[in-house]
Amino acid sequence: MENKLVYLNGQYISLNEAKISVMDRGFLFGDGVYEVIPSYYGHLFHFQQHLERLENSLTIIRLANPYSREQWQKILLPLLDVNQNQYIYLQITRGVAPKRDHAFPENALPTVFAMCSNIVPFAGKDLGIKAVTMPDSRWKLCHAKAITLLANILLRQDALDQDSAEAILIKDNYVTEGAASNVFAVIDGILVTPPKDCNILPGITRDVILELAQQNHIACHEEPISLEQLKSADEIWVTSSTREIIPVVELDSKPVANGRPGALWRHLDQCFQAYKKDCHERRNPV
Ligand code: PDD
Repeated sequence: MENKLVYLNGQYISLNEAKISVMDRGFLFGDGVYEVIPSYYGHLFHFQQHLERLENSLTIIRLANPYSREQWQKILLPLLDVNQNQYIYLQITRGVAPKRDHAFPENALPTVFAMCSNIVPFAGKDLGIKAVTMPDSRWKLCHAKAITLLANILLRQDALDQDSAEAILIKDNYVTEGAASNVFAVIDGILVTPPKDCNILPGITRDVILELAQQNHIACHEEPISLEQLKSADEIWVTSSTREIIPVVELDSKPVANGRPGALWRHLDQCFQAYKKDCHERRNPV
């Protein structure tokens, strides 16, 4: 295990030393939330939006945000290597309780953990990936970035076992999202992504793509996508902070269009890479 510096409950310590109690509610119940925040050249990308989503996730699980924006920034910045593209993993649980009881403990201090890892460029990006559709077996609070990810990991593993890199989830015949990503499709020349509701995580990458599409005069709608529409789409992409924008070239063992990454993906990915560079060069205040 890489022995890097991590943050745990007010201290910077090595990963090997970082320990939590077995009575932590995160361990016993999966009672917590998390964020994954990319950083390019030491600059946290869309930090404000990630903190807003964290705030929403905490509100949904009825846990107070332990820190202000300025305090979060002060906590996270020392973990970053300014010469690398990295991402912060940040987790907050309801803390350690004296006994295992479903009810919220009184006066428990939240457990706060953060670590930083290098972003490894996703190997399948330029060639595209295979994906499989699967019934969305998750709960009704998918808009919270909860650490309770058992359904997501089972779905992702099912996809991997079928030689596919992502599961695209279907609920009542409509696409929700990927097991760990949002979904875009190009249908009749228009870029479409499912609207934000409690069936999907409001992805920050998704928001950036919508913004870039608008700036570049690319027609784009936030609309439901039926399974039939997905199956006959000209392009399909999955998006996330760690993988960025990945074209899907095979869905359920059938090629998507000609089985190669599409022209709109290439265009939007170029816009995305230029935007990242621009954010870095302008050194937007984080
Ligand atoms: N997950 N939907 C789900 C279920 C996700 O887990 C993720 C990302 C996204 C994309 O959100 P964003 O663009 O803000 O990364 C959508 C992260 C990367 C993870 O769990 O590691």
